[in-house]
Amino acid sequence: MASWDEAFILSTPLLRLQTFLPGAKLRFQGLPAYPQLELLLIDADYDDSRISAEQADKIGDDPPYWVFCWASGRAMVNEIFQGSISVKGKVVADFGSGAGVVAIAAALAGAKRVYACEIDPVAISVIRINCQRNNTELIVTRDLDSIPEAVDLVLAADVLYEAENLKFLDWFLACSDDVVVADSRLKNLIHSQYEHYCTRYTTSFPDFKEAKANNEVRFYRNRV
Ligand SMILES: C[S@@+](CC[C@H](N)C(=O)[O-])C[C@H]1O[C@@H](n2cnc3c(N)ncnc32)[C@H](O)[C@@H]1O
Repeated sequence: MASWDEAFILSTPLLRLQTFLPGAKLRFQGLPAYPQLELLLIDADYDDSRISAEQADKIGDDPPYWVFCWASGRAMVNEIFQGSISVKGKVVADFGSGAGVVAIAAALAGAKRVYACEIDPVAISVIRINCQRNNTELIVTRDLDSIPEAVDLVLAADVLYEAENLKFLDWFLACSDDVVVADSRLKNLIHSQYEHYCTRYTTSFPDFKEAKANNEVRFYRNRV
């Protein structure tokens, strides 16, 4: 059973989640391939047939992104732990951190310092909770420009979910000479300074049975 302090800390995200999905619960869950990395995420037992059309609209208007580890975040964690994205000894910024999965993986894989950049205040509380759960150190920031040192690597997973967010791509390049973007929604990124270099297949966790097309995660990096 959670201690009183723990229950208090968890109450903000839980209340927020239940505004959207009455009765839904949050639970610490290990990522399937890396169970040592635990995140506070929605309990997959939630019966989504109880979601009314009105609730679905509300979720769509202001989604609690942090209740899932998104497919791109999960694919990026695999690349970090398998070493194909090298973070060791680097100052890393994880932009659009959500529940903090990529930032925490980078810290566990030996990054020198990790900035988790996020604008949603509830996600920021969840990142702090997950950071503590995994005995990692992260610095949470709302904005890439406020990072007070040179950034060796910018990582961004599942942040290009609307056309307006494409502007972030130039911001990443202004922040670092090394940028890796993973995205499952944008199939054909056209930007003169980025190139597609690999594709991976995975689901969100917990798996909320997105359209199969969203399980195809495309990785882009800046041209050098
Ligand atoms: C779909 S979630 C992906 C979360 C995580 N990267 C993952 O893969 O599980 C996108 C996240 O980007 C964040 N975001 C959107 N615009 C942002 C901005 N301007 N600055 C920082 N974070 C932003 C959202 O709040 C949300 O948490």
